[in-house]
Amino acid sequence: MDDELNALRRTRMRWNTPLSEAHAELLLDRMAPGPGDLTDFGCGWGELLLRAAGRTPGLRGTGVDTDGTSLARGRAAARERGLAAQVEFVEADAATWDGPVGRGLCIGASHAFGSTKAALDRLARVVAPGGRLLFGDGYWAAPPSPTALEIFGGDILPLPELLDAAAAAGWQVLHLSAADQREWDDFESTSRAALAEWLLAHPADPRAAEVREWLGRRLREYVGDYRGVLGFTYLVLGR
Ligand SMILES: C[S@@+](CC[C@H](N)C(=O)[O-])C[C@H]1O[C@@H](n2cnc3c(N)ncnc32)[C@H](O)[C@@H]1O
Repeated sequence: MDDELNALRRTRMRWNTPLSEAHAELLLDRMAPGPGDLTDFGCGWGELLLRAAGRTPGLRGTGVDTDGTSLARGRAAARERGLAAQVEFVEADAATWDGPVGRGLCIGASHAFGSTKAALDRLARVVAPGGRLLFGDGYWAAPPSPTALEIFGGDILPLPELLDAAAAAGWQVLHLSAADQREWDDFESTSRAALAEWLLAHPADPRAAEVREWLGRRLREYVGDYRGVLGFTYLVLGR
């Protein structure tokens, strides 16, 4: 897909993870961000980081991502909400970001560090003692089919093993929750919505066949291969 369609694709998504508004508020409550620093590793357009800044005077936010288009969306949102002085977006590799940081977010971005285990290990060295990390990551909620393994790769863990990896890295679990079915369905639907609407409006566009194929494949894979199989957990971790 070209840059225009790629940019359009994510416009209907609030954030790039299966998460309701109410669940996000709960996670921010459990993170208890104060007037210190909060660094978002693999922030995308940093919606959760901006929400944290918006409700916490004195919080200084830094969003780190390698995707310039997402960072530009985050900067524009920060300006619109009067948060530009409070939240900075930096184009950089999260895996080599130096600490110490007081509080961290890493949601759907463990692959930036190589794997779930690598992310938990690295972030345990980057988050300062006494700090907290909101770690959102995929896990196998049911045994994956060969096709699901092909789509998502071999690094995803069942939840007990993910928790073992967190403990081995020195983290204490302060909160655990998981995306529910409606959050997943909404995530998948909003991932497809902008392109599905574009296709209805542009059936004769030369790119229509490619978009139709992508939309069909994504929906088939979701309902056929990973709905109810790939879970997504949110852990508030302390050390
Ligand atoms: C599934 S998205 C999640 C984005 C965001 N955390 C959210 O919840 O909306 C994963 C993000 O990780 C970013 N990413 C991948 N590799 C990275 C790296 N090495 N350093 C920083 N960001 C990276 C991608 O650009 C993408 O924005």
